[in-house]
Amino acid sequence: MAVPYQITSAEAYQHAYAKSIENPAAFWADIASHFTWKKQWELTLDWNFVEPHVRWFLGGQLNITENCIDRHLESLGNKPAIIWEPNDPEESHRVLTYRQLHDKVCQFAHVLKNNGVEKGDRVCIYMGMIPELAIAVLACARVGAIHSVIFGGFSAQSIADRLQDAQAHFIITCDGAFRGAKDIPLKSVIDDALIACPFVERVIVCTRTRTPVSMLKGRDVWWEDEIKKVETLGLHNFEPEVMESEDPLFILYTSGSTGKPKGVVHTTAGYMVYANYSFVNVFQYQPEEIHFCTADIGWITGHSYIVYGPLSAGATSLMFEGIPTWPDAGRFWDIVEKYKVNILYTAPTAIRSLMGFGTAPIEGKDLSSLRVLGTVGEPINEEAWQWYHKHIGKENCPIVDTWWQTETGGILISNLAGITEAKPSYATYPLPGIDPILVDENGNIIEGNNVSGNLCIRHPWPGMLRTTYGDHERCRQNYFATYHQLYFTGDGALRDEAGRYRITGRVDDVLNVSGHRIGTAEVENAINMHAGVVESAVVGYPHDIKGQGIYAFVVYTGGHQSDPQLTRQDILLTVTRAIGALAKPDKIQFVSGLPKTRSGKIMRRILRKIAEGEPGQIGDTTTLLDPNIVEEIKSGVIN
Ligand code: PRX
Repeated sequence: MAVPYQITSAEAYQHAYAKSIENPAAFWADIASHFTWKKQWELTLDWNFVEPHVRWFLGGQLNITENCIDRHLESLGNKPAIIWEPNDPEESHRVLTYRQLHDKVCQFAHVLKNNGVEKGDRVCIYMGMIPELAIAVLACARVGAIHSVIFGGFSAQSIADRLQDAQAHFIITCDGAFRGAKDIPLKSVIDDALIACPFVERVIVCTRTRTPVSMLKGRDVWWEDEIKKVETLGLHNFEPEVMESEDPLFILYTSGSTGKPKGVVHTTAGYMVYANYSFVNVFQYQPEEIHFCTADIGWITGHSYIVYGPLSAGATSLMFEGIPTWPDAGRFWDIVEKYKVNILYTAPTAIRSLMGFGTAPIEGKDLSSLRVLGTVGEPINEEAWQWYHKHIGKENCPIVDTWWQTETGGILISNLAGITEAKPSYATYPLPGIDPILVDENGNIIEGNNVSGNLCIRHPWPGMLRTTYGDHERCRQNYFATYHQLYFTGDGALRDEAGRYRITGRVDDVLNVSGHRIGTAEVENAINMHAGVVESAVVGYPHDIKGQGIYAFVVYTGGHQSDPQLTRQDILLTVTRAIGALAKPDKIQFVSGLPKTRSGKIMRRILRKIAEGEPGQIGDTTTLLDPNIVEEIKSGVIN
């Protein structure tokens, strides 16, 4: 018998969960029947985790924008799909109803076609948080192009790397972006990136800041001019391209423990089903509610819970251009009051930074519309959880602590708002269809409760990644080769006496800085690019606001510049150029050497202990090539 789409009680959760594990294909076939298909699928699931090979809803045809827009037009055409709040509270906000969103997505889909974009082409999107970003994403999906959104904080070098990897010949950008007091020159960063990417045929530039930009003849065109052409031609509806279930929908680059960021590939049907199902059930979305996810669409959270999840559910999604602390630390609360926000979904780092301003920015703000609070991106410490609960939720709103990853497409472990119980700093229970297990270093399954280990998932779910773009072997190596027939998350977790999960953090060389993933190897490579740097080692350390800070130990040979403070700044600039400001180390310690084993391996464990301020726990150093180096590093530690 079919399970209801929305879970409305703890018992219903138990029931749906049991069904989903007993027969996952039947469970998801049921869930998928709630969507608009151009052609019904023939085989629900075909998989093995060895290659890996994961295919959902085979033989099915659809277009995700039809599910996110067209199917709502009749009943919800005049309902706001997107409410946009600008960076500057003095500027007017914008509202796009489902009807208006439909028209704008169709118009821009025509623009893409007119500019030569075809089904399967990769389109890079590098824009600020304006409605045109969501429109660009959806227009790509409508024409069947694969979008790859790059967060506006990445540097020209990072963009060039991604463009080359994806062989993206088309770019959609803005002249600039407003973020707090800053004005980021996006087009100019793109121009720098394109020096290394002569294969790019077209750059479509949307006006936002009206900062001066260079427009190259034959390559660069203005968004607004292209729209005018479509209007002049009298083009309206754009018939959505027919997509196979497993046609790629997007690529999103994310850091791993080695090498350059990898392009995580999500496909159409499975991703759509999972983003929608997790949105509706975790947040317990009710019709007419306003959903405010504070993430940027440059990250997976924005893809799944600003664009695809809420819109496929016919919800109103609030999109905010600015930052929580500008012009003051009451910005989020003003927005909640202004639009009567019901669901607020943000990151622990934002909560911790707002906690630092005390409760004055909240006083006098009406937050009574809030029904559900959510967190994502990193473990939430108990203090931040309690503050969120008390001062924002007024002890009246369930907090959902949602654990997931770029690779998982949607939330995998979380309590369901008001349905299953929350426990501070615990993501708690898996969603239906998700079978988490803990394993030890050797891959042995750890049974029972009150245990901890490496977190793996046993069976495919529709929203999981399918490959890493252009390099399937890398996907296998990263996620499926560590433990036999399991997807390995890279996270450690513990399971309490009641079977609830608490995510303890990454167990690989990946840092989580302000909820953003950064590979230590990536930062090291960037530091090592600086002339004068011989080698470096990067580790994380606990940071009050960012969760983790970046600590770099750097062997530097000098050169003419002997002022360490200036050298630090030079290194920071090198990292900013190579990756972006988000990867800048918080601390740089110059050392004469790094602790290495006789075989030359850097002992990061030792450096981590030093950076964490626990040098007493370093343990045995006798196996080191030069044990004295540890004493030198300890004595120079930066607090
Ligand atoms: O370590 C986990 C942490 O963020 C990682 C995924 O990062 P990313 O792909 O950038 O996606 C972030 C947004 C989904 C995970 O491997 N993480 C994410 N959510 C939580 C978390 N750690 C603890 N609790 C969470 N709720």
